Amino acid sequence: MSNLDLFWMRRALAEARKGHGAVEPNPMVGAVVVREGQRIGLGHHARFGGPHAEVVALAEAGPAARGATLYVTLEPCCHLGKTPPCTDAILAAGVTRVVAAMRDPFPRVAGGGLVRLREAGLRVDVGLMDDAAARLNAPYLKRLATGLPYVTAKWAMTLDGKTATASGDSRWISSPRSRACVHVLRGRMDAILVGIGTALADDPQLTARPPGPRQPVRIVLDGAARLPVGSRLAQTAREAPVWIAVTGQAPADRLAALAALGCEILEFPGDGRIPILLLLSELSRRGVANLLVEGGGQVLGAFLDAGHVDAVDVYIAPTLEGGDHSFTAARGVGRPTMDAVARLDWHEVTAIDGDIRLRGTLPASWSVRGALLLEAGDPHPPSGHPLPGGEGEPSTTHSPESVSSPLDPGGRGAVHSVE
Ligand SMILES: NC(=O)c1ccc[n+]([C@@H]2O[C@H](COP(=O)([O-])OP(=O)(O)OC[C@H]3O[C@@H](n4cnc5c(N)ncnc54)[C@H](OP(=O)(O)O)[C@@H]3O)[C@@H](O)[C@H]2O)c1
Repeated sequence: MSNLDLFWMRRALAEARKGHGAVEPNPMVGAVVVREGQRIGLGHHARFGGPHAEVVALAEAGPAARGATLYVTLEPCCHLGKTPPCTDAILAAGVTRVVAAMRDPFPRVAGGGLVRLREAGLRVDVGLMDDAAARLNAPYLKRLATGLPYVTAKWAMTLDGKTATASGDSRWISSPRSRACVHVLRGRMDAILVGIGTALADDPQLTARPPGPRQPVRIVLDGAARLPVGSRLAQTAREAPVWIAVTGQAPADRLAALAALGCEILEFPGDGRIPILLLLSELSRRGVANLLVEGGGQVLGAFLDAGHVDAVDVYIAPTLEGGDHSFTAARGVGRPTMDAVARLDWHEVTAIDGDIRLRGTLPASWSVRGALLLEAGDPHPPSGHPLPGGEGEPSTTHSPESVSSPLDPGGRGAVHSVE
């Protein structure tokens, strides 16, 4: 594939990102139609249930699409979902070449779209910028592979790794612009989670301000239901959902008081800490595809110990705090030696008003990348990369279009017991 192919695929990926926060749990997808070196159509999947990127780009191109090349960031679908198959639209438009960044592991597609196009005589190339495309849609891929939400951990710290002073003061570590970035991120999440330690110390609202494309559910891990009824979270539970994860140690009168304010109680077994895997399974069942864990250190440590942090978004201020008793970003059991530390497999560093922002991903044990790169028509992934629904799947595979949004009012209101 040529540098021009690379140029147009980059453009399609940039277009795909416009759907961030609006299309999930569907994937973000972008498409460009190019003829004789000119862009004649551009489109992205803009909202859940809305037209797919290919269809939007082909509509813009109109009859000029005959003989053109379509660049698309994900294999075109070949099944009837909320919209008709994109392969039909591509064939009807008379496109002669399709370049797809990656194969779609969704079971009703899984290479079938590429086969359909090839069988119709189109030239089909797959795999251009597949790393970038897979990173873009990591939450979608994780959900297909495991049924679990994608977990991003966010924190702000001083240069010496402190997230609060010994007295619990953490406002503010990072610059106003860094905090504005966090609000943008929040507005694209299904849920934001903190531990009760943070809820008690900071009395946070955990909302996106200004609001983004989606309003996240606010979750507190609070085994004993210690969240004060006067807290900002409890007091605003009717404005934006608040879910409180508790265990058997939570007194019935506290649960009743919080439920009366509109908080939803999620009961977990035992009388200790909330089990992370069970929590994630329950959040997925409730339609959470993207979870932002905002700390504190004990909760983030628990997610790390359990191996359930997929990505990090960290703000490092040019300040030094010191102190034996100040808070750090992640506690928990930790790793015994430097050989065992969790190392990012991709990261990007930017400067924001004197802060350093580091965004990165951790190696994904659930990765289906091996399967994604298979040529269309090959039904078996390499060993170690189970296809969704395959043997050893830890959880059920969901059809992204059939998963209800956590903002669906039908999904709330009751006390739900997690077995
Ligand atoms: N700079 C930053 O980015 C940032 C971000 C967040 C917080 N902070 C600061 O961090 C401090 C609070 O941190 P923290 O570590 O003390 O508290 P935390 O992690 O917010 O909350 C810990 C509490 O959560 C409950 N919990 C329930 N299930 C858990 C599980 N599986 N694992 C761990 N905890 C679980 C436990 O209380 P129960 O046993 O009662 O359930 C535990 O004591 C505050 O000062 C806050 O300002 C800073």
